Amino acid sequence: MTVRPTFGKPVRILGIETSCDETGLALLELSAPAPGGQWPTARVLGQALHSQIDLHKTYGGVVPELASRDHLLRIMPLLTSCLEQANSSLDQVDWIAVTEGPGLAGALLVGVSVAHGLAAALNKPLMGIHHLEGHLLSPLLDAGSQDLRFPFLALLVSGGHTQIMQVDGVGQYTLLGETIDDAAGEAFDKSAQLLGLGYPGGPAISKWAANGRADRFEFPRPLKHRPNLDFSFAGLKTAVLTQVQKLQTPLSDEDRADVAAGVQAAIVDVLVHKCMAAMDQTGLKQLVISGGVSANVSLREQLLAAAGKRQATVFFPPLQLCTDNGVMIAWAAGLRLSQTMVQPEFVDSPIIARPRWDLASLAP
Ligand code: KG4
Ligand code: ZN
Repeated sequence: MTVRPTFGKPVRILGIETSCDETGLALLELSAPAPGGQWPTARVLGQALHSQIDLHKTYGGVVPELASRDHLLRIMPLLTSCLEQANSSLDQVDWIAVTEGPGLAGALLVGVSVAHGLAAALNKPLMGIHHLEGHLLSPLLDAGSQDLRFPFLALLVSGGHTQIMQVDGVGQYTLLGETIDDAAGEAFDKSAQLLGLGYPGGPAISKWAANGRADRFEFPRPLKHRPNLDFSFAGLKTAVLTQVQKLQTPLSDEDRADVAAGVQAAIVDVLVHKCMAAMDQTGLKQLVISGGVSANVSLREQLLAAAGKRQATVFFPPLQLCTDNGVMIAWAAGLRLSQTMVQPEFVDSPIIARPRWDLASLAP
């Protein structure tokens, strides 16, 4: 199946993301694919992003009430700076795309309400986007992705999700396996908290792991050798806690680095193993990785090495688009437009935020 471009003229899409702890706005211009190209051509005209990391740091995780208040404070100034950067005015926007879910209810409502307000005031069509579809399709924004063809495999690894999907087309996602408890990002975050490394844990663990010995402590790899494609990461934090309690406190830098390296090795090992099992089970040789954890360098290196042995290809999002942002939301909307599979919610529709929303339910 190929994407059918329907862009007679370039289309400008404003993307709005507020599902968790990043307020992201972006103005994307999409036009027909370059000759021989597979995906629409995308130009990021402007983007503005505010991360709430500093706000939530003290609490070791995202505080939902603080998150929605901060989105409320930031969203309009960020919209202004995004448009200034794009040298564009609101009436030059053709479509508004907003993350409708899943995520924190109050946080989602900020983006959704602003999007509906803009759509009503400007009389522009609006599209609700699934946050994970945004992540899932973001690797297609990378210049190297023109070779990617449906169907392919996708590993979604974020703070809230760990899923392996089969992607048969835009909007056609089949869940092959997922975590039965904690997400991979959560395992990074909780382990970092136990080591006193701050929030978010993924980047901190990966930084400390670079100077640690991954083989000093053996951490569990639950479900690794089960034939299904499910994951389980909840046991890891208990194992880290038990290990930390055995060590002398305060922890030395060496101990911290070695635990970090062991934790990272365990998570990466399981993720890589299950992705390779998914390739063997489906016969698919193309794998897309997305979500915040896809920024992890060790994961990238080991996936590339393992896939290389199978003559398989791995596609990653551009590094700055691994974590939440408005570009991926506008892009997902653009791909939906390019397939003429869009049912715009017009301005009189009710405001919807979907805190829980199954990606597989998007299938037409
Ligand atoms: O996709 P994302 O920005 O938000 C969600 O939708 O959850 O992902 C955030 C997650 C956090 O758990 C964070 O620790 C993790 O991505 N993360 C990383 C790295 N950068 C972010 N995990 C491992 N290594 C990284 N370099
Ligand atoms: Zn996300």
